[in-house]
Amino acid sequence: MSNAAPRVWEHAVVTGGAGFVGSHLCSALLAAGTRVTCVDDFSTGRPENIAGLRDRPGFTLVRANVSEPLDIDGPPDLVLHFASPASPADYLRLPLHTMEAGSLGTRNVLELARAAGARFVLASTSEVYGDPQQHPQNERYWGNVNPVGPRSVYDEAKRFGEALTTAEAEVHGVDTAIVRLFNTYGPRMRGYDGRAVPTFVRQALAGEDLTVTGDGLQTRSLCYVDDTVAGVLAMAAHDMRGPVNIGNPDELTMLELARVVIDLTGSSSRIRFIERPTDDPAVRCPDITLARDKLQWEPRVPAEEGLRRTIDWFRAHMDG
Ligand SMILES: NC(=O)c1ccc[n+]([C@@H]2O[C@H](COP(=O)([O-])OP(=O)(O)OC[C@H]3O[C@@H](n4cnc5c(N)ncnc54)[C@H](O)[C@@H]3O)[C@@H](O)[C@H]2O)c1
Repeated sequence: MSNAAPRVWEHAVVTGGAGFVGSHLCSALLAAGTRVTCVDDFSTGRPENIAGLRDRPGFTLVRANVSEPLDIDGPPDLVLHFASPASPADYLRLPLHTMEAGSLGTRNVLELARAAGARFVLASTSEVYGDPQQHPQNERYWGNVNPVGPRSVYDEAKRFGEALTTAEAEVHGVDTAIVRLFNTYGPRMRGYDGRAVPTFVRQALAGEDLTVTGDGLQTRSLCYVDDTVAGVLAMAAHDMRGPVNIGNPDELTMLELARVVIDLTGSSSRIRFIERPTDDPAVRCPDITLARDKLQWEPRVPAEEGLRRTIDWFRAHMDG
């Protein structure tokens, strides 16, 4: 299946543009001839992620916290709201910042889109499904979230962000879209962000034990970042509000992932089992029927290929 041709935008604002997914979005938009304003407070993002973009014509960095009123030069026609801590290690370290980015931040960024008449895309997450009782998860599933558990600062902020986005579309007619991203991996992840792929790759390259939580039989579905970016831009180009799942339905257990990483790195590392975090979901797999049907989008990069590219990047950049 071929992915739909991306629409050409004149000026895109990417909040969280110095982060992992956001920086790949900035690159893709610039490559398509779009002027890009990246808004980031570097709370979890890194200047290196956008180092290659800083001198490119059409790229502007605004160092700002989206939870405070924003001042952007020139009206955008596309606004991608990706600013939020995203890994459990980050949002557990920054609980209030995370809640503010999802609530006050989403409100401010929606206001920017409303004032400019721009298309607005909210980066939501599979975490809105919590520890799901339906498998795989389609967009009609309402989720199973603990509202006072340790992960709630992220899950509930994203759920609130979805509700606010929907209300803005209803009340002010903002042209909104919601994408629910499932686990995405690839170059520019941080080795210590606590997510499985960068953790395993870092450990394997350092010859350390790979720390698998619980019995390792919990599953995740991993989407290579280029595929995620293509899905987000396909949704931006469509007129659907969503929410739409963007993820890779190929599911694997954490134990399988650890073994593949050991294999692909040629590491002598062993696997060590450690305690599983509270409210860690047992299964996570997107039903992407909607994205396939409406956006003509589906992931193209097989896990082995994506992991090889990620490992190559970590080998060249291993600094944590
Ligand atoms: N990576 C994934 O697997 C995944 C899955 C689901 C959803 N998402 C969503 O995609 C977005 C990006 O995730 P990521 O993995 O690239 O994380 P990341 O931490 O690498 O990027 C987030 C970026 O947002 C910036 N940021 C955070 N709070 C901010 C604020 N208040 N003001 C301005 N900038 C702020 C950070 O500095 C960082 O550059 C997040 O909204 C996340 O919820 C990601």
